[in-house]
Amino acid sequence: MHRLATTKSPSRRNSPEPPAKDQADTLRKPVSPPEPKPRPENRRNTRSRSFFAAEQPFKVYPDRDDEEYQSLCRQVAEHGLLRPLVCTPEGHILSGHRRRRALEHLGSTDYPVEIVVGLSEEQKWARVHLENRHRSLSTAEKQQLGRAELLRNPNLSDRSIADLVGTCKETIANYRRALEASGEVPRTDHRVARNGQVHPATKPRRLPVYHTRLNHAPRHADTLSRIDPEKLPASKIILTNRDVVRAAHQERREALANSPLVRQPADARVYNCDFRSLAVRAKLQPGQVNLVWTDFPWSSEWLKKNGEAVVDFAIEYLAEDGAFATYYGNCPWLPELMAVLGKSLHYRGMLINLNQSQKKDQFFITKIARKSRQIFVWSKSPGWTFDPNDLGFTTDVYTGDPAEKEAHDWAQPVGESVHWLARLSRPGDLIVDLCAGTGTGGVAVRRLGEGRLWVGSEVEEKTFRIARSKIAAGLPDGVPMAVARTPRRPPSPALVQMPDGSTHRLETLLSNANYKQVKGQGYLSMGLTLTPRDSGGSGLHLCRHATAGCGAACFAGWDRLNWPNAKRAMIARTLLLARDPDHFRAMVAYELQQAQQQADERGVPLVCRLNVVSDVPWEREWPELFAEYPRVRFMDYTKHVDRVLATDRPANYHLTFSRSEQNEADCRRVLEAGRNVVVVFRRKPIPETYWGYPVIDGDKDDLRFLDPSPAIVGVVAKGAGARRDKTGFVVDL
Ligand SMILES: C[S@@+](CC[C@H](N)C(=O)[O-])C[C@H]1O[C@@H](n2cnc3c(N)ncnc32)[C@H](O)[C@@H]1O
Repeated sequence: MHRLATTKSPSRRNSPEPPAKDQADTLRKPVSPPEPKPRPENRRNTRSRSFFAAEQPFKVYPDRDDEEYQSLCRQVAEHGLLRPLVCTPEGHILSGHRRRRALEHLGSTDYPVEIVVGLSEEQKWARVHLENRHRSLSTAEKQQLGRAELLRNPNLSDRSIADLVGTCKETIANYRRALEASGEVPRTDHRVARNGQVHPATKPRRLPVYHTRLNHAPRHADTLSRIDPEKLPASKIILTNRDVVRAAHQERREALANSPLVRQPADARVYNCDFRSLAVRAKLQPGQVNLVWTDFPWSSEWLKKNGEAVVDFAIEYLAEDGAFATYYGNCPWLPELMAVLGKSLHYRGMLINLNQSQKKDQFFITKIARKSRQIFVWSKSPGWTFDPNDLGFTTDVYTGDPAEKEAHDWAQPVGESVHWLARLSRPGDLIVDLCAGTGTGGVAVRRLGEGRLWVGSEVEEKTFRIARSKIAAGLPDGVPMAVARTPRRPPSPALVQMPDGSTHRLETLLSNANYKQVKGQGYLSMGLTLTPRDSGGSGLHLCRHATAGCGAACFAGWDRLNWPNAKRAMIARTLLLARDPDHFRAMVAYELQQAQQQADERGVPLVCRLNVVSDVPWEREWPELFAEYPRVRFMDYTKHVDRVLATDRPANYHLTFSRSEQNEADCRRVLEAGRNVVVVFRRKPIPETYWGYPVIDGDKDDLRFLDPSPAIVGVVAKGAGARRDKTGFVVDL
């Protein structure tokens, strides 16, 4: 090995450790020095140009004519070569490619050279890298050097190569990925570190650990077993309840997105994509669509950019007798609209929506009246007409509600979509909305039912989520989809003077309702828990129709409630309602708005149970709440028979009548009126029928508004009070 590369052995004087005692004697004895191995000598001399090999395997980057090179040339011209070139006896330069070039550039024919002998291939490369580390390399050069090293020695670890090249291991890992992808470097399952140790190429991933203190571990065990650790971010080693619930939601969404469209009774599917990808995402077949019903952004720029693609979609996917309808809006782009769509489709006519509530007409040079919004209709084939007998047209003007705008300035009222889609489509038709916005068309199609299918694309993610939650909510007829609403200011927390003289601070009134979560999957549930009677001195008895039986079951439970903090919060909420109803309402309304936003972000409907353990007729006490939150599915159980039978109850408030030991006649009236009654049975299994009505398992979930009716909702007695009931409140079979 040549001198420069030899490492000195540490001298005894410098040795940090004194020799051990038993070694000392041996050391004192004269020891004959080992025979030095004959070593090849390096040589310094001059060599002519012809000495150098034509192929230079250790030259890893191309020549540069930059400032650094120019300055090297000047130096060589002025002072000659300060350091000789370093070469192998075969004429391969290990260090000095640029210096040799500078010498040639200056016309020299003889170069000072140090010839190193006896180096292994590894050692030659080490020398090359050592030299390079003293140079300022450009990124491109480092890249070349790194790539060369990877090609030469793919088993060397990224860190080792990075050290050789003078870069970081992440950069080398990037080069490696690219080279592996192109097949230039083989994928290896182990790497050799600088110290010669061999490691697996990829660190084995730690499996996620389910947090030991999870509340609902058994319930989520199933979901947990399906979580793919590979899909989790590296930091997610410990999973919480929330992670698992999220994973369950994701699973459900993916299953829904991949399931085939169901034709009964109506189905609507919205995709978060540009309309150009809709056919692929929704697996549409050419000629399959009966109606395109859409509402483009109202601008000629949008039309210029997208018009051709819209027409291409219509021509490819509309059935021969298919139609194409779009809102037009009061914008001056009618000529463009006609020109683009008219090229390949046949214009058929205009439908008009009148908004009676608009205070006055507005006239502009380019716009006519804000009181009306037009829909233009084209057909694919020239023979298509508005056939009154076939499609049931009686008029081409619809007078409806004002535009209900909530999340989106562009949202259209659902009523007019229902009106027109009933006339432009037939049962079983496939309707497509290329610019679905907040999904008004999808909601309309779900309301129309009769096997119609609706598929929409919405490019904005936030709007898409709103569309998804609106469609999923599947609100009954008569519920407006949205109302104008300004964001609420958060009310200050309430400070409630408690009966024991202390002050209780209420930050929120609604809580995430965890009752029967399994059945509530796919919904966001909130609940308002007040005290069931004048418990704890709240001064309000909120269960006017309570009987001895339900009292024993429910109030006894309350009296025994083991969580003092939960109990205090319930009393404080009830006191706030009694003493400062305005503050109470402001808090509930604000929290509902926040929850609705959260539900929209998750793309799920919001469910709210206002009487978790109370029985307040909220539709009478606070009717505006239901109008202000039309998309919230309010639901409760009640023992007020007139509340259940009332015909003027808000459409988004569902009530299930609750049987007690005293109200059998009312139960039968409720069932005869086509509504549902909840009955508490002593133990499982609950019967299949009761009083001749089918029994639904009410313990599976709390989404009562999804139940068919008339029916009995059977639940099993819970808590010691209910299980020991002798009043007849709990039914023995
Ligand atoms: C006029 S709004 C539709 C409003 C809808 N009628 C409603 O009631 O909510 C037009 C929608 O088209 C969406 N959009 C614009 N370009 C799109 C594209 N290339 N693909 C899909 N959606 C698009 C916009 O994000 C916007 O939400």
